[in-house]
Amino acid sequence: MKRMRHLFVLIAAAVPALAAQQNLVSNKTDKLGLDPYASAWEKAAAVKVAVAPQKLVVPQGGGAISSVEVQSLRTASEIFFRLRWADPSKSEDLELSGQFVDGVALEFPLAAGSMPAPMMGEKGNPVNVWRWSAAMAKPEHYAKAYSDYYRPDAIHNTIKYSVRPEDLVAEGWGTIGRRREQAVDGAGDWKDGTWTVVLRRKLRAPGGAAFAGGSVIPFALAVWEGGSQERGPAKSFSVWNNLLLDHGIPAKPKNPLIAGKIVYQRYGCGACHGADAKGGVPNPGSQTDPIPALNRVAEGFTEDEIKKVILNGRNAAPADPNGIAPRLHMNSWKALMDEEEVHALIDYLFSLMPKEKGQEW
Ligand code: HEC
Repeated sequence: MKRMRHLFVLIAAAVPALAAQQNLVSNKTDKLGLDPYASAWEKAAAVKVAVAPQKLVVPQGGGAISSVEVQSLRTASEIFFRLRWADPSKSEDLELSGQFVDGVALEFPLAAGSMPAPMMGEKGNPVNVWRWSAAMAKPEHYAKAYSDYYRPDAIHNTIKYSVRPEDLVAEGWGTIGRRREQAVDGAGDWKDGTWTVVLRRKLRAPGGAAFAGGSVIPFALAVWEGGSQERGPAKSFSVWNNLLLDHGIPAKPKNPLIAGKIVYQRYGCGACHGADAKGGVPNPGSQTDPIPALNRVAEGFTEDEIKKVILNGRNAAPADPNGIAPRLHMNSWKALMDEEEVHALIDYLFSLMPKEKGQEW
């Protein structure tokens, strides 16, 4: 695994980042089951979704996997997703002794037409998460299969895995829990260094994400490489991409400032810096608590400087080395954001600079 990873890094450095936002068309098919290798998938459109290591919230982690291929198909009553990714080491055995399993999760806004922060949603604007774990591929492992979800109070809190993929809901970091109705099922298989996982749900499921016709539905994903100690928040994640149903067409605003504002939303910058970038959330223990506003960055940063912060990220510096460690940090967005998005985002942030009296006429 170690050697493969180095190879990966070299290759990743040589090729430009994948186009950030993918448009995945979900076409109709007659009949489909959970067989990950069903022939219908051979003709289904596929997109490659880039993922980045999760460095936003402690415990940070991830980075073993750099992209996941996603496909979708629908029958008259159900929607299917197939997720494939390279993972040279299959990890499906889970003991309570620091051994973790491979897994993948899909995420959708819970309320039709909403766009919460892609990192687990926001208070009042929840997301629906469908989580599959490799332990599920081996029934004899259910009994000892545990996962440690992130809880602000107890990092090693354990929850027993279910026999089928979990249908979860979250409204921000540390809030994830199961929905009363478990509407998702799935199956996965590892062959020749590749996981192939199928997730299925009825098009309509009470209390679950809605798949209405004629529309564009945001989807995001997360992936865990158990052999690299990835579990819970130590994962790789994507921001929102578009699932297109029945010829839905994603909006492409002509106004660059609106385009920039959409980038700000798609990346969930507002979850930390405020919905309108006018001031962020508390981050106890950080030198900058609350998290800084971004509407005045035109004052303190050149375009190149701000680009560097956005692409490279930055850990929040502790106010007191002996005090509490800050929980929220600035992710590196390099693996996800393309040039066009960075520019639109910076133009948008620069446009927010409050005009001084006397400058207006
Ligand atoms: C998980 C919370 C979080 C998210 C989400 C987040 N940031 Fe940050 N950001 C931070 C923290 C914390 C800092 C301060 C780091 C430090 O102390 O130097 C920061 C600093 C910055 C700075 C430097 C500001 C200054 O005055 O020093 C910029 C610019 C910035 N972020 C832009 C963005 C953009 C653009 C996005 C969305 C693509 C984003 N951030 C998403 C947490 C976040």
